[in-house]
Amino acid sequence: MTATSLRAEAALVMQAVEDGQSLAQCLPDGLASVPPSEKPQLQALCYGTCRWYHRLEAELTQRLKKPLRQSDRVIHQLLLIALFQLRHSQQASYAVLNETVEACRALGWPHLTGLVNGILRAAEREGEPEPASAAVRFSHPEWMVEKLRHNWPDHWQAILAANNTQAPMTLRVNASQGSRDQYLQWLKEVEIAAEPTRLAPYGIQLTRPVPVEHLPGFADGAVSVQDEAAQLCTILLDLAPGQRVLDACAAPGGKTCAILEQCPELAEVVAIDQSAARLPRIQENLDRLCLSATLQEADAARTEDWWDQEPFDRILLDVPCSASGVIRRHPDIKLLRRESDITPLAGIQLGLLEKLWLTLKPGGRLVYATCSVFTQENHRIIQRFLRQQPEARLIEIDPDWGLDTRFGRQLLPDAQAHDGFFYAVLARSESGNDPQRTSEQGNGL
Ligand SMILES: C[S@@+](CC[C@H](N)C(=O)[O-])C[C@H]1O[C@@H](n2cnc3c(N)ncnc32)[C@H](O)[C@@H]1O
Repeated sequence: MTATSLRAEAALVMQAVEDGQSLAQCLPDGLASVPPSEKPQLQALCYGTCRWYHRLEAELTQRLKKPLRQSDRVIHQLLLIALFQLRHSQQASYAVLNETVEACRALGWPHLTGLVNGILRAAEREGEPEPASAAVRFSHPEWMVEKLRHNWPDHWQAILAANNTQAPMTLRVNASQGSRDQYLQWLKEVEIAAEPTRLAPYGIQLTRPVPVEHLPGFADGAVSVQDEAAQLCTILLDLAPGQRVLDACAAPGGKTCAILEQCPELAEVVAIDQSAARLPRIQENLDRLCLSATLQEADAARTEDWWDQEPFDRILLDVPCSASGVIRRHPDIKLLRRESDITPLAGIQLGLLEKLWLTLKPGGRLVYATCSVFTQENHRIIQRFLRQQPEARLIEIDPDWGLDTRFGRQLLPDAQAHDGFFYAVLARSESGNDPQRTSEQGNGL
């Protein structure tokens, strides 16, 4: 495949994202149509263009005297990709210009090659214009910047900057197979540089990402890929042998597997997801790790459809959310998410919490988690829930990490380490007891 058609393929992927598809949905088709050696390049072009989309878009809008017609939109994508390379890659600018003009022709728009050439020549000659706003500078939609500024007046710029970095590759060591120290030694022997994570006890962060096939013991379940922040959810459950555990929004099963690895003597783990398409991913992950759980395809909030009335000792509620804490891993979120999504999501989150609370055993513990940094999906949900549920008590989480919101702890995305995540640990009082007098104390970390 020529560099021209790779570029044209990237433009088609970007067009699909602009039309509302996620990279997870549309990139596989693009990748399938390029040779193996070019897949990383196609991926890098699409991820990079999404990451800097709002900033590139501001520059392109400024350079185009009038916007291209909707029917010429794929050429707009081609120009964004070329600008991404001019501003953020080592690629020689003459190659970017020539290949983009050729891709314009190859896609069937020969009449626009002059315009494409003129715009890119000017961009190369004049350099990048000064960003006109924080939204352009940090390349995020305006509403997200305003929401973050409002939610985190002391941290919003750091969050935006961290969102534009490339996330590290982090592993979770399978505690039922060996220790973190043993696996670190194993990595050293195969010359893969790595460090233990600071917060998660089974976490290892690689200095550079590697294909999973290069990880020793991966196929036999020695490790899984999981961000450090995601690993903390299951640690907070404070698992013990004999417990019945519910993982309420479980697919693709990263946390279901972590639960079973950390405490193999549990009585049962029930893993529910309402997505028929995602449920098989849980089974695949369980199979690789030789673990088993009871899987159910259901809307977890409709307990009448799936619950057998046997209460759970522990519940993990890793709710569907805006994913605003994992933008560095999924930069297409910046294009896909709408401000109007957040209030309905918060309604779903509170609804799930209210319904699943009723399946928790008196004296049991529920961990509410999101990979969001919007307070509306996080501590505001817990605050509202605690107001209406006298049997619920908030358990304090180790003050050594994250930010205390008074209704749970927030980790903000850290360029050098973990994603952004929120956690609240709730204990249900023993029936008839004052919730303050439950035996639960501490946080299990
Ligand atoms: C944040 S992801 C869960 C990630 C998962 N816990 C893991 O660690 O691999 C949220 C999941 O919730 C599922 N979901 C959304 N609404 C649901 C509902 N009402 N009942 C059950 N699952 C739901 C989605 O299909 C999605 O797989």
